[in-house]
Amino acid sequence: MRILILGSGGREHALSWKISQSSSCDALFIAPGNAGTAQHGTNLAIGYNDFEAVKNAVIDEKIDMLIVGPEEPLVNGIVDFCKNEEALQHLHLVGPSKESAQLEGSKAYAKEFMAENNIPTAGYKKFNAQQITEGQAYIAECQTPIVLKADGLAAGKGVLIIDNIEEAQQALADMLGGKFGAASAEVVIEEFLSGLEFSVFVLTDGKNYKILPVAKDYKRIGEGDTGLNTGGMGAISPVPFVDEVMMQKVIDRVVKPTINGLGKRSMDYKGFVFIGLIEVQGEPYVIEYNCRLGDPETEVVLPRIENDLIPLFASLKEQQLHKEQLTINPKSAATVMLVSGGYPEAYQKGIALSGLDQAKDSLLFHAGTKMNASNLVTNGGRVLAITSMADDFKDALSQSMENANKIQFEGKYFRTDIGFDL
Ligand code: AMP
Ligand code: GLY
Repeated sequence: MRILILGSGGREHALSWKISQSSSCDALFIAPGNAGTAQHGTNLAIGYNDFEAVKNAVIDEKIDMLIVGPEEPLVNGIVDFCKNEEALQHLHLVGPSKESAQLEGSKAYAKEFMAENNIPTAGYKKFNAQQITEGQAYIAECQTPIVLKADGLAAGKGVLIIDNIEEAQQALADMLGGKFGAASAEVVIEEFLSGLEFSVFVLTDGKNYKILPVAKDYKRIGEGDTGLNTGGMGAISPVPFVDEVMMQKVIDRVVKPTINGLGKRSMDYKGFVFIGLIEVQGEPYVIEYNCRLGDPETEVVLPRIENDLIPLFASLKEQQLHKEQLTINPKSAATVMLVSGGYPEAYQKGIALSGLDQAKDSLLFHAGTKMNASNLVTNGGRVLAITSMADDFKDALSQSMENANKIQFEGKYFRTDIGFDL
């Protein structure tokens, strides 16, 4: 098979690393990719939101399978676009349709879907720009902290958790007034849930599903989960507190009703469902759905999957996923993200990286890197994910940390306390 992966982060490097190991992979392309993905395939200089360019690449490179990494092209409808093109009817697509991607693309859509399928989640109400006064009155009756969510995609910045009623009322007015553009034309106000978060990844063909390794990521920039939110500073898999009892509750109350719910709405879903969960007094609640794999969760999830991914992905088109077996490595994986100085605020790009050849016994997944002539340089806030495996996540973490100290670039920062709360 000839395969094209869309995306350019650590997630896509991990996917290309894994897929390039398959005996069924005859050629691998990544658009636009990074310096890491180029070790496993050919990077194509096209943007993943340029559907016409993607179509031309599929035709020119005789692509059989298109794997969509990030949410944006999915929410913009790349799967529907491909399905409607005469020349692309042969294509295996890994990613949900535009309607299905609304599970991530619209918080209100996701909340309605959960209500319809009795899936446990925080209570909520939604408001639009004509309902600011009503929304503010609603906030006055809520317990603090107040959770405000922009309905649409807001690059991970659309969720505000505010301790004070007046500030929350002001924030609601700002959001409905256009703070996040069209993404906050509607705002969901949610009950605050307190507990430990974890993420369950499901591969589905819309009818059958496989549960992939459970992971937990660490989103704040600072040690002890303090400071600004980032895309993710590290992750571990499995998650010690998510035992069999908890997993069974997640399967019965969340995964099965979610997959059934896709069927009820006739949603065309062939891809990953990322379920963000929180444990509250022993019970799982859904915080959010994403329509793709997580980053950096993928960097700990894929190294634990022993299967060749291509037969799994190829089974989606005809809804034959039930015929596949999934084998998970029982070892623990931990990843530590090296980030640029200043991230998640302003940072510099183009800084030389060195010492990667000194790193031993870890997988190095590039996130924001590129080649500048023959020099490897930084090209994003999140630069490199260092994944290690061991019997225990703490040992895996020490291995990643040892290598994090060997890799150098000016301004390098990483958290040393991934898994501190477990
Ligand atoms: P989301 O984009 O919906 O995942 O929200 C981003 C982050 O905000 C989550 O990972 C949680 O840490 C936090 N969060 C979202 N919703 C809630 C909630 N209802 N209660 C507590 N924390 C929340
Ligand atoms: N690490 C969180 C995400 O990928 O959304």
